Amino acid sequence: MGHLNFLDTTPSLPFLFLFITILVASQIPFGCTRQAHSSNYTCIESERQALLRFKNSLADESNRLSSWIGKDCCSWDGISCHKTTGHAVTLDLRNLEQPEMDEAFNTSYHCRSCLVGDQLSPSLVNLTNLRYLDLSVNNFSGLQIPTFLGLLKDLRYLNLSSAGFVGEVPHHLGNLSHLQYLDIGFASPNSIPIDNNLTSNDVGWVAKLSSLEYLSLSGVGLSNARDGFLAVDMLPLLKTLDLEGCELVVPHLLHVNFTSLSSLELGSNQFLNPTLPPWLRNLTGLQDLGLSYNNLDDKVHDTFRQMTSLVNLDLGGNHFDTSTLRSICNISSLTSLDMSYNELQGSIPSEIGQFPQLTVLKLSKNRLNDTTPSSLWQLTKLQGLYIGANALTGELSEHHFAKLRELKRLDISDNLFSLHVSSSWVPPFQLQYIWMGSVKIGPRFPNWLRTQKEIVELNMYNASISDAIPGWFGVLSNDTGGIILSGNKLEGSLNSFISVADDDKKFVQMWYLLLNHNHFTGSIPEDLCKLRTLIYLDLSNNHLSGRIPLCLGNLRYLSFLHLGSNSLYGQIPGSLGNLGELISLQLSKNRFDGKLPPSMQNLKRLQSLDLGENRIADTIPAWIGERLSDLEFLTLQSNNFHGGISNTLCQLPYLQVLNLAHNDLSGSIPHCFKNFTAMESTKPGTFQFSKSSYIDPLLRNFKAGIELEYLKNIDSVKSISLSGNNLVGEIPDEIMGLVGLQNLNLSKNHLNGRIPKNIGNLKQLETLDLSMNELRGEIPPSLSSIYPLSSLNLSYNKLSGPIPSGNQLQTLNDPSIYEGNIGLCGKPLLNSCPAGESPTENGPVLDDKGHSESDFSWFYAGFGPGFSVGVVAVVGILQFKQSWRYALFKCVENAYDRIWVMIGLKTSRLRRNFH
Ligand SMILES: *[C@@H]1O[C@H](CO)[C@@H](O)[C@H](O)[C@H]1NC(C)=O
Ligand SMILES: *[C@@H]1O[C@H](CO)[C@@H](O)[C@H](O)[C@H]1NC(C)=O
Ligand SMILES: *[C@@H]1O[C@H](CO)[C@@H](O)[C@H](O)[C@H]1NC(C)=O
Ligand SMILES: *[C@@H]1O[C@H](CO)[C@@H](O)[C@H](O)[C@H]1NC(C)=O
Ligand SMILES: *[C@@H]1O[C@H](CO)[C@@H](O)[C@H](O)[C@H]1NC(C)=O
Ligand SMILES: *[C@@H]1O[C@H](CO)[C@@H](O)[C@H](O)[C@H]1NC(C)=O
Ligand SMILES: *[C@@H]1O[C@H](CO)[C@@H](O)[C@H](O)[C@H]1NC(C)=O
Repeated sequence: MGHLNFLDTTPSLPFLFLFITILVASQIPFGCTRQAHSSNYTCIESERQALLRFKNSLADESNRLSSWIGKDCCSWDGISCHKTTGHAVTLDLRNLEQPEMDEAFNTSYHCRSCLVGDQLSPSLVNLTNLRYLDLSVNNFSGLQIPTFLGLLKDLRYLNLSSAGFVGEVPHHLGNLSHLQYLDIGFASPNSIPIDNNLTSNDVGWVAKLSSLEYLSLSGVGLSNARDGFLAVDMLPLLKTLDLEGCELVVPHLLHVNFTSLSSLELGSNQFLNPTLPPWLRNLTGLQDLGLSYNNLDDKVHDTFRQMTSLVNLDLGGNHFDTSTLRSICNISSLTSLDMSYNELQGSIPSEIGQFPQLTVLKLSKNRLNDTTPSSLWQLTKLQGLYIGANALTGELSEHHFAKLRELKRLDISDNLFSLHVSSSWVPPFQLQYIWMGSVKIGPRFPNWLRTQKEIVELNMYNASISDAIPGWFGVLSNDTGGIILSGNKLEGSLNSFISVADDDKKFVQMWYLLLNHNHFTGSIPEDLCKLRTLIYLDLSNNHLSGRIPLCLGNLRYLSFLHLGSNSLYGQIPGSLGNLGELISLQLSKNRFDGKLPPSMQNLKRLQSLDLGENRIADTIPAWIGERLSDLEFLTLQSNNFHGGISNTLCQLPYLQVLNLAHNDLSGSIPHCFKNFTAMESTKPGTFQFSKSSYIDPLLRNFKAGIELEYLKNIDSVKSISLSGNNLVGEIPDEIMGLVGLQNLNLSKNHLNGRIPKNIGNLKQLETLDLSMNELRGEIPPSLSSIYPLSSLNLSYNKLSGPIPSGNQLQTLNDPSIYEGNIGLCGKPLLNSCPAGESPTENGPVLDDKGHSESDFSWFYAGFGPGFSVGVVAVVGILQFKQSWRYALFKCVENAYDRIWVMIGLKTSRLRRNFH
């Protein structure tokens, strides 16, 4: 099914999209006032002293507490006092600052506006009348929640979310018997994610908080808390409960006590049974319910039919089918429904029209097919419609959209849709997110885009557009964060589109621009360098010519720069050495010449460097091994690299793919190749990613074949190719220690000596090419025990003796793989061996799997990880870099609709919560 593989659902995914908004703000029992009340009372002196002590225990880099001077502590920022008694009742130090862009991008995120503390001063306990304490979104990294908070008996409101607290939650919090609001969970989406890392092994303390109305323990590890859920069920006044990602086993309750609940978030936990627990039905006032990523289904029970008070329902990432969707269609009060990543199949039920209030509908990533029911397009309140990655068909036209005036986000990507509208169409909506990947939109560039002034993201890859980008296209909003037009036949020069950046304000926030796999001509415009916030730039696979503009080196946030497969020439500019955040640099298949600029040694974060198929004439610089120590993929194939392979290269412990093929390298293969420790194991590298996500539709376009082949295994490919050089000497035995190797190609050199006896150690080997060398002696019988081996070439050497047989070698029966070795005999060659030299080891005869050229071709074609690595790496890297999570977050108001951010954020949470 090749390119329809979005129908697959993979088990690794369920944990990805677990994020759910809960409308916390509206439920805060106290007005969360930032203004200090001025009052006629100067504050109580002992409290003032206590506050000052507390202040002194904090580092306050951005001077947020500068007003904390003078006698009247009641007028200090964040403090308010009781009108009559003068006691401090509120201490609100929640950090609401948005960090600066530079700050956010800093690799090790440093929150300037955060209060930081090595300890929190216990003097706080002298604020005996404190009712409201908010320390959220600061940086108390590594601190435990102080036990003395349990002494603040009057507290009604306590918010310690997203402040870096770690360790076991102190049971002392259970003494806060008046507490109505407690949040020690995740950051809210708009805050800086210095997440807490808390556990609670015994939640008995929660049960004592009988006044609680709001409780968020999201992300707090409760896996060891026996009966954790029962403790929560003791809280009769609870209205909001957030237990997202707590590693909790949700039991079947016999009796529910928290019947006041109106908001319940249980996403990404585990239920005792895969069916919905019947007690959910007793929560008759429930409005918000989040059950995403719990492996649930409800084929029999029809639970939702009775939950008629629901307003927001998130069932994403479960196993619900279309019958559940039908039963949900009863709930006419629903305003948002998420059933993405489930097992919906067949048609979208026409009952979907029974949600007059629906503003958000998410049905992406299911197996829905057929045309869309007309009732879907009557949901006039829709602001977000997500039906991407199904198998829906049909022609969408103006009349489908005629009533969707409110629509802001539209995802119809990756179906079998075509869009047919007149060139004068003026849509009724102003879209912010346009996801129309693989929708047949062309051949003309869609004129209606001109009317859309609020575009944040535009994604029309593979949309069959064969046209020039019109001049007006630059008139996108200056909030545009990303454009993907890959895989069309867009033509003309990039100038017309980029030069709108005349106005410096335009595109100031663009994070990614992917125009790869088109027919663009001309040079790379210098104006591109005005897109200063670009993280991901892909212009590969076009017809661009000229030199790389020096100013590209000013795009200092770039992490992915892909310019491969064009006709660019000249030296690689030294200015690229300024791109210290670069993770993947792909310049392959151009005509670059000269030497590598030494400044490239500053690219210390590079994980993938692909310079293959150029005319670079240099020795392999020592700094590659000495400075680029994160490299996982190195491709210098088909250039004019000369000289020896020096031992310095061996200092790359993470290297998974080394491709130096088709150069002019001489000397011998270093024994120190054994230091490529990543090749010693089958463990995947850090480019981990989920194969099933919004990403893969994106990838699907970028060629079936080579890159896709790569993609499948990108995180675990382990390969060495040194083919087509002038290497001499023997094959070092040490290479046989790289037992994770899947591909080894040493062909077309002058290697001599014998094939190492223990070549059978390379148990993962799928392809082995030692052809066209001067290897002597017998073929080691151990070769036959490499079961994955599907492609072998030993031709044109000086090998002799019987060809081993049995096991895997039995299937490799094409005589040409042995030809040109005068001394070889036995099957599959025609000459039988002289008596006494019978082939060793007659194993069982396996089926003839055969193998085709293409098995090899991607290998020969070189390791141009190309596009796929890039996207993959975005995903991978987002898992590690908090700052990115935040920075990308910031650029759109609702970041979790966005692929990379979403995945990055969610997986990073999951890393914490599930590993
Ligand atoms: C005391 O409060 C009243 C009313 O809030 C205000 O009019 C008056 O100016 C205040 N007096 C002082 C000394 O601040
Ligand atoms: C807080 O109260 C304790 C006694 O309860 C006292 O010893 C201490 O000095 C007080 N601290 C401040 C800052 O007032
Ligand atoms: C969270 O804390 C645990 C120990 O309690 C530690 O093993 C883990 O690495 C921490 N996770 C993060 C993301 O800091
Ligand atoms: C619910 O309340 C009943 C009666 O107050 C009590 O007996 C029971 O233990 C409570 N159930 C749970 C799970 O807390
Ligand atoms: C749900 O409500 C029904 C009827 O009020 C009651 O019989 C049943 O025990 C309740 N179930 C739970 C789990 O509380
Ligand atoms: C939709 O998929 C179902 C299987 O899930 C299949 O039986 C049906 O024929 C498909 N319908 C269309 C129109 O492709
Ligand atoms: C660009 O952004 C500024 C503020 O960031 C805004 O005032 C202005 O209206 C925007 N211009 C356009 C053309 O959208």
